[in-house]
Amino acid sequence: MNSTVKAKVDEITQAFELDKTRLQDLVELFNESADYGLAHTSAGREAMPMIPTFVTSIPTGKEKGVLLAADLGGTNFRVCSVTLNGDHTFDLVQSKSHIPTDLMTSSSEELFSYLASKIGAFVRQHHNEKFDAEASGDAAAAEAGKLKLGFTFSFPVEQTSLDSGTLIRWTKGFDIPDTIGQDVVKLLQSHIDKQKIPVHVAALANDTVGTLLARSYTGENKEGLTSLGCIFGTGTNGAYNEKIDNIVKLPKDVVADLKAKNITHMVINTEWGSFDNELKRLPVTKYDVEVDNISSNKGYHMFEKRVSGMFLGEILRNVLLDLHSQGVLFTQYARKEDLPHRLRTPWLLSSEGMSLFEIDDSTNLIATELELKNMLRLPTTVEERLAIQQITRAIAKRASHLAAVPITALVIKMDAFKGHNIEVDVGVDGSVVEFYPGFRTMMRDAIADTQVGAKGERRLHINISKDGSSVGAALCALSNDTI
Ligand code: BGC
Repeated sequence: MNSTVKAKVDEITQAFELDKTRLQDLVELFNESADYGLAHTSAGREAMPMIPTFVTSIPTGKEKGVLLAADLGGTNFRVCSVTLNGDHTFDLVQSKSHIPTDLMTSSSEELFSYLASKIGAFVRQHHNEKFDAEASGDAAAAEAGKLKLGFTFSFPVEQTSLDSGTLIRWTKGFDIPDTIGQDVVKLLQSHIDKQKIPVHVAALANDTVGTLLARSYTGENKEGLTSLGCIFGTGTNGAYNEKIDNIVKLPKDVVADLKAKNITHMVINTEWGSFDNELKRLPVTKYDVEVDNISSNKGYHMFEKRVSGMFLGEILRNVLLDLHSQGVLFTQYARKEDLPHRLRTPWLLSSEGMSLFEIDDSTNLIATELELKNMLRLPTTVEERLAIQQITRAIAKRASHLAAVPITALVIKMDAFKGHNIEVDVGVDGSVVEFYPGFRTMMRDAIADTQVGAKGERRLHINISKDGSSVGAALCALSNDTI
């Protein structure tokens, strides 16, 4: 790189660096925000939602049954048939469809009717016999014969019971105002009924809650350690088991009822994507501001916008546009309007592409050259590719280091290293943590730099929990006998 380019690129790279003190401050602020969220029900920007999920028991692995799971998470909608074999194992058949982009900003009617139609098609293919009872005209038999479905709905929902909850806000590019405040289980069930599909939506679960439960079922959390379920994919979030006494915002009658049943804990969906929306301690570059400005939930999910897959590519795209405007990169294009259309279009630079730039060690970064041509129709020089690689690594490193914050904070909050529970099981899922090269290692490095230190970091078992969200939703559906 020539010295002007290098100086500019170094300056930007530095802006993405987080030091130890900042990491530790963030951990402290996280736990203050978590405590505030456990005490206040608020949809405001200041609060991390900390949503009580009404999941009060952890699977043993002996659960048995055939259940459906439907998973609306980010870019895909999955419908699965899950057979729980009762011996920590499961079999899963699934169909996956890419959500048409226009549906993400359509109406509740259109979106939920689409979801129901996909569930219907799946049931016809895999459980067609269930339609016979529905068609027989015997209402009681039809009701009894329905398949139970666990609905993994991975957006912030204020849950009122295991099978009801109203949408607080959309995230990850969805923007359908008329769904806000509606019960998403009722919405899905009404379209399932309209389409005469023999399915009963028995439970609502966030993907992080599913991930947490699935690990207990499969027995991967062998010692029954304190555990966390986390997602680092299109979005990011985590769930953990909290003492009922600490969930100050639970209504008194609910607490009395739980205590009468000797229930001591409830799983909390933290919605940590909304950690530090007020930007008290999160790092802010001008690129973060630009990404937030064009997002569909401006001002919210500020942590997620620095960590998750949906946003990393968009941060990089903004850096590249800035370097072009300063005459540092792509100098053959005089004005912004002359740049390749795809580089000027938001969201087209993907985190999958960044994974490739991150580890490209081909001569002259030829693999990166091809990817940039394919993805953005952008021709580049070696020098430009080196700059892009350096900036990519800085953005991803910041994301992985920030990802360490909620994990460490919750470990501290749960007092996880006290008593006999000296190790913690962290079940993770999502495209970034699974596929982004080095993400988990960088995250671990940062955990070692926080209050728990290298010794604490060694006590964390961080493992991928494949299909966890669907298996967990099926487990929730099994545990709910409301049909
Ligand atoms: C949502 C969470 C979800 C996470 C990971 C976030 O945008 O608000 O509910 O768990 O993405 O899918």
